[in-house]
Amino acid sequence: MKDYLIFLAQSHPGFRKAELESLANLHGIKADFSNHNEEHPFLMVSLQSDEEAYKLIDRAILSKGIYELWGHGNSFEELHESVKSNMAELRKPYLLNTFKFENLTFQGGKKSREEQIKMYEKFVYLDFKGKIRMKTPDQTFTILEQYSLGADLFPLDHPDHCWFGRQINLSARSRGAVEKYDIKKRPYFGTTSFDAELSLFTCNMAQVRPGELIYDPFVGTGSFLVTAAEFGGITIGSDIDFLTLKGKGPKRRLKDNFDYYEDPLLFTDVLCMDFTNNAFRKDLTFGSIVCDPPYGVREGVKVCGTTDSKIGRETVMIDGELAFLRRDYIQPKKTYSLDLLLDDLLQFAAERLDTGSRLCFWMPVANDVDIPTMIPQHEQLELIYELVQDFHKWSRRLLVYVKRDDAYRGKTIRSEHREGINNFRERYFNKFSKASRAQQ
Ligand SMILES: C[S@@+](CC[C@H](N)C(=O)[O-])C[C@H]1O[C@@H](n2cnc3c(N)ncnc32)[C@H](O)[C@@H]1O
Repeated sequence: MKDYLIFLAQSHPGFRKAELESLANLHGIKADFSNHNEEHPFLMVSLQSDEEAYKLIDRAILSKGIYELWGHGNSFEELHESVKSNMAELRKPYLLNTFKFENLTFQGGKKSREEQIKMYEKFVYLDFKGKIRMKTPDQTFTILEQYSLGADLFPLDHPDHCWFGRQINLSARSRGAVEKYDIKKRPYFGTTSFDAELSLFTCNMAQVRPGELIYDPFVGTGSFLVTAAEFGGITIGSDIDFLTLKGKGPKRRLKDNFDYYEDPLLFTDVLCMDFTNNAFRKDLTFGSIVCDPPYGVREGVKVCGTTDSKIGRETVMIDGELAFLRRDYIQPKKTYSLDLLLDDLLQFAAERLDTGSRLCFWMPVANDVDIPTMIPQHEQLELIYELVQDFHKWSRRLLVYVKRDDAYRGKTIRSEHREGINNFRERYFNKFSKASRAQQ
């Protein structure tokens, strides 16, 4: 085993470890991330090989890069001692390679070019024989530093800790994936489009694999489909709202986003369909299901049907054809509860996911009253993560389930056990106050 250093992103620190664990599991890598600290963006891990390190970070969104660790210490003196004691074996394969040095800091001030060069020159004892090349060198050697802030909120003069390592790989994030999927840059987006960074992260949590069929049952403008395609998933979606699927005119439809990202072959299609009356054939299975079900705030939870005993039941003929059999027939719709919809989603996932595959979805929860949140559960699905993104009075949770084999019997928590507890829509529109009083 060798030591590596991961430089983590400074966003969503509470989700970073879960992403690394999911990526390690996806690639069959055994690694211990228990030293992860949400306060700091540096994490040391032991891995078998550079190849494992490369794969672990390659598609990460909440990590920036991974480095073969040559030394570290609480001061530059300690760092140099550490590098000198390790370097004999480590430097051999790279002696003749072209190389460059770089410096990355957490909370550190910006160094002038002269200061940087002075810092790099202190590593002269490595005695590399290759040429320095700033563009596309064979090896990049990185000095990483972590600083604390003083009472004036400026960084202290000396780092708390520093590391020296050889860059193994930079992540999808560092290669620009989050900017690439920025909602506003897409030909087609809308008010429900899901944040690019978290869509990509969700697809990593779902372990989207190249060539597998990935389904979003509440596809909207397709944020999860384009990000699943980034990781090679073959995507398919459905939504009850025909107008969302139709898009905003030529070159501003969901399919145009795939052309824009040059992934048209990874887009199967989208179907206008009520998820609760699912039309996929019974033996169609999916590699993962990823979604953001309707919260009932911007878009209501709707299913096909009517609560009015008359509407939709009268026989209407158009041009000699029964109206409901025509292609242009628009079904009446009735409102439905998010709780029931989530039961349906879990049941569907239990039937349609391959064993070991994942269902990932975001569930809104009101935080205004101090009662435990009841997370939906199904006996065939193991809930492995519940990651919370807090917005003060409400939060949304990413729930990650794995489909287990027939021998598995997990917990069941259906809507009747949760009734009236989450009730997100009502509490949102009451500004989270009326429901709180009712609970007291
Ligand atoms: C939160 S939005 C999803 C947004 C999507 N992730 C995006 O990036 O645009 C939920 C979607 O669920 C759809 N929806 C609501 N009820 C549905 C149902 N019964 N079956 C299928 N889709 C439904 C809504 O039309 C809406 O587009």
